Amino acid sequence: MINGKKVLFSGMQATGNLTLGNYLGALKNWVTLSDEYECFYSVVDMHSITIRQDPATLRQRARKLLTIYIAAGLDPKVNCLYYQSHVSGHAELSWILSCFTYMGELNRMTQFKDKAARHGDNINAGLFTYPVLMAADILLYQADVVPVGIDQKQHLELTRDIAERFNNLYGDVFTVPEPYIGKVGAKIMSLQDPSKKMSKSDENPNGSIYLLDDADTVIRKCKKAVTDSEGVILYREEQPGVKNLIDIYSACMGKTPEDVVREFDGRGYGDFKMAVGEAVVSVLKPLQEEVARLESDKAFVDLIIRENAEKASYHAAKTLRKVQKKVGFPVRIP
Ligand code: TYM
Repeated sequence: MINGKKVLFSGMQATGNLTLGNYLGALKNWVTLSDEYECFYSVVDMHSITIRQDPATLRQRARKLLTIYIAAGLDPKVNCLYYQSHVSGHAELSWILSCFTYMGELNRMTQFKDKAARHGDNINAGLFTYPVLMAADILLYQADVVPVGIDQKQHLELTRDIAERFNNLYGDVFTVPEPYIGKVGAKIMSLQDPSKKMSKSDENPNGSIYLLDDADTVIRKCKKAVTDSEGVILYREEQPGVKNLIDIYSACMGKTPEDVVREFDGRGYGDFKMAVGEAVVSVLKPLQEEVARLESDKAFVDLIIRENAEKASYHAAKTLRKVQKKVGFPVRIP
């Protein structure tokens, strides 16, 4: 608890361009939950270097991502929006937790297996221990809840196992976090291959809608979306392309998939795709305008970065000192 509120932690990587999947699966829920919890939203730049990055591009993308957090509606005076690399406690706790995590557990992580298969020339130890750093992010702030898309569920389960293991040995040190996975939008699929999740790293740019795509591009990508030859708009597994478009439309318009099926009863795919495109544009346009406005206010964003890094460091240090004491590190002499 901080200021009488439960704590929320989540983060996003500044790798590649953010997609509509990141927005509908995570960022949108962050905004909805932000009043109820004391929130920490990190730009997890330390996670990004598990894959080779161009330094200037990473720095630029990290800043853009922080700006997107604010533009999406997270008030930076209330929510702690900060860069992971500005708070050294993440790395320090990660080391301690790695001594309480088993190789077998990390070997089972599907994201590691996927990334290792895609980056065979660079299967570094950071890629392998990535879920431990993620556990440290969450446990450092004693988070009660972690809003994520379905693809992060396995990492959350590991975080809970690590926290429980540590608590069993040393008493109630960590809050055991619960994942929060939204009802709609938790897994947005590629528009070109609805069996794959929409991803920043997709080689086919038509598969993903990027948050900063302009209106024409969004409409074009929606029109090109892969569907099927059934010709009916129904929400079912046998029509994964149409189902994905219904998910996108529902999440953008705040409707249930059943409402959408009723709304488009008897209409054709062409009409529906156009409506999906317009719904996405109605969400992205105000966000893009706000990003542009914030980019011109350098002093304000700089201040947010400095103040929030201090706030996050303060809370991180509290947990870290407690953990260091529990494992037997010598107490600091004031
Ligand atoms: P990342 O950066 O890949 O994704 C950020 C968030 O977006 C969600 N997401 C999706 N949701 C729905 N449909 C999709 N197609 C889709 N693609 C991505 C992800 O589930 C995530 O919530 N390891 C994390 C970042 C991280 C983190 C953390 C998250 C680091 N430490 C601590 C929570 C708590 C990641 O790579 O997310």
